[in-house]
Amino acid sequence: MIKIAVTGACGRMGGLIIENVLKSADLKLVSAIDVTGIGSDIGEVIRGGKLDIPVSDANDISSVLERSKPDVLIDFTIASAAVKNVIAASGKKVNLVVGTTGFTPEQRVLMEKSIRDNDVAAVISPNFSIGVNVFWGLLAEAARNLEDYDIEIIEAHHNQKKDAPSGTAMKAAEVISKVLGGKEFVHGRHGLSPRRKEIGIHAVRGGDIVGDHTVLFAGDGERIEIKHQAHSRQAFANGAVRAAMWVSTARPGIYEMKDVLGIK
Ligand SMILES: NC(=O)c1ccc[n+]([C@@H]2O[C@H](COP(=O)([O-])OP(=O)(O)OC[C@H]3O[C@@H](n4cnc5c(N)ncnc54)[C@H](O)[C@@H]3O)[C@@H](O)[C@H]2O)c1
Repeated sequence: MIKIAVTGACGRMGGLIIENVLKSADLKLVSAIDVTGIGSDIGEVIRGGKLDIPVSDANDISSVLERSKPDVLIDFTIASAAVKNVIAASGKKVNLVVGTTGFTPEQRVLMEKSIRDNDVAAVISPNFSIGVNVFWGLLAEAARNLEDYDIEIIEAHHNQKKDAPSGTAMKAAEVISKVLGGKEFVHGRHGLSPRRKEIGIHAVRGGDIVGDHTVLFAGDGERIEIKHQAHSRQAFANGAVRAAMWVSTARPGIYEMKDVLGIK
């Protein structure tokens, strides 16, 4: 049985991941951690009935991990919190699944240093859906063959999303840029903004859109659009739970979802 702790337990993703952990015969929820709902029964928070696991205070994360002894911590919070949670968990030799997005390069360095210094294994991905991980591969393939085309990335998410552009859109831009030997990124356009050979990135926010990503390759007389649409957060939760099982026995290191899925 793999013991799981979840940070961001009361959030949209955390709650869904807990539902999935509870359904799995191989996983056991040992702690639910957040900065809100502290002391409430997590089963009641996610409307699944009493579980006798109270929500623990994230400010106390080291002692919560010490007491509950998880094999893996799954973090879907906000970037500043995720950095603290990753440092605390790796310090306690707990392997990690990190789904939080919006890290600055400095935050990413801090997290990676703690993971490596403590010899733990972590899967870090801005998108745990299988489809998006295939989508990134398709973008690389298109970029290899359409290097002179104009490239624009358009993403759309619900009106509660805090960071922009999405981590998935930024990863799409990085995948394409790597294939093309380095590209400038231009975020939105306003006023005089002649198009050069940049990758344009655009964020749309509205309603309850779970997550749409379109990458447009436009050339003379034609265009290709490669598009992924998430219909529900279940796609991310399934992937995060799969990553937790995989990382529980992984060698120390920092991995992506494609390592979990065996995608080249
Ligand atoms: N990688 C993926 O596949 C994927 C998919 C969806 C969302 N996300 C990302 O996951 C994150 C969470 O998304 P969400 O929609 O669940 O957000 P949400 O706002 O619904 O939930 C975030 C939760 O984190 C909690 N939190 C804040 N600070 C905390 C701390 N220090 N310790 C513990 N918990 C803390 C909040 O109280 C809240 O309950 C975002 O960064 C989002 O972009 C990633």
